[in-house]
Amino acid sequence: MKSITIIRPDDMHLHVRDNEALQCVVPFSARQMGRAVIMPNLKPPVVNVESALSYKQKIINALDKDSSFTPLMTLYLTDKTTTDTVYQAADAKIVAFKLYPAGATTNSDDGVTDLFKILPVLEAMAEVNMPLLVHGEVTDNNIDIFEREAVFIEKTLKPLLDKLPNLRVVFEHITTADAAQFVINAEDRVGATITPQHLLMNRNHLLVGGINPHHYCLPILKHEKHRLALLEAVSGSNSHRFFLGTDSAPHPRSKKECACGCAGAFSAHAAIELYAEAFDSIGALDKLEAFASRNGARFYGLPENTDTITLIKKEQHIPASFSFGNDELLIPLRANQTIAWSIDA
Ligand code: NCD
Ligand code: ZN
Repeated sequence: MKSITIIRPDDMHLHVRDNEALQCVVPFSARQMGRAVIMPNLKPPVVNVESALSYKQKIINALDKDSSFTPLMTLYLTDKTTTDTVYQAADAKIVAFKLYPAGATTNSDDGVTDLFKILPVLEAMAEVNMPLLVHGEVTDNNIDIFEREAVFIEKTLKPLLDKLPNLRVVFEHITTADAAQFVINAEDRVGATITPQHLLMNRNHLLVGGINPHHYCLPILKHEKHRLALLEAVSGSNSHRFFLGTDSAPHPRSKKECACGCAGAFSAHAAIELYAEAFDSIGALDKLEAFASRNGARFYGLPENTDTITLIKKEQHIPASFSFGNDELLIPLRANQTIAWSIDA
């Protein structure tokens, strides 16, 4: 049976929510990931060091006693973020700030309305070597949803990188050939995460044969040519800039299967197996370890994890749902279907 052993991976973009939901989802990531960069888009958002540290403690409390899983905390950038908060964050080992353009996605109402109005805060981040994580989509209602990422590169990302030559930036969950090419041609201070769904699915998976709300996430699934460009990016030249970030974004079934379903796909239950399937599909399993376990650590200036996991090409069946607290259910990616790879227990 085909198998591969890799350094334990890290998830550099993860939503674990709060309270009962948090209790339900954290163990899935802890089972396979060494560390995870925790997104701060709670309600209300995590905007200061104090709330980030208490959130971190809640995550740790949800782990088994012998778990070595480490949450890496981030702060949510708003129009009101101060340079003092940046310096405090650096002292407290907060790993990054997350930019949600106001209105871009789930829980982004408190996001930044104009990036160029908070330049002193971004300069302070560059000064302390704190990366900025960007949700790279414009929010202009006149821009087509499938083009919002490409427009963001021209309208926001390029001017931002020009204005702040020392700021390190992660272009989160990229979905297009445009974004992949931009990162390939950028400097090493630019990195990008890619989700399993964007490596495995295109917009047909969302819209053909009926709308599948569990495949609705932001940025939205794109045309097949973009999926192929992402697969090429993780296996081609300058692939060291791309790393694993699931954007696993759990929501209760009732918020997904309704008249106006919210954005987010849950993948933490089988993240590395989904990536293995994607890399295997193009014969690039030899590139999986760099993507999953080395490139992200290097970008964040962290040592690689010291243990390994082994993946085997053996089908696993995914349950139809998981419990999500408060009598709610969580529908995972591949619910009631199989994934071609499993973790060797
Ligand atoms: C994320 C969420 O639900 O928090 N949703 C999503 O579709 N990806 C927010 C985000 O990362 O955009
Ligand atoms: Zn996200």
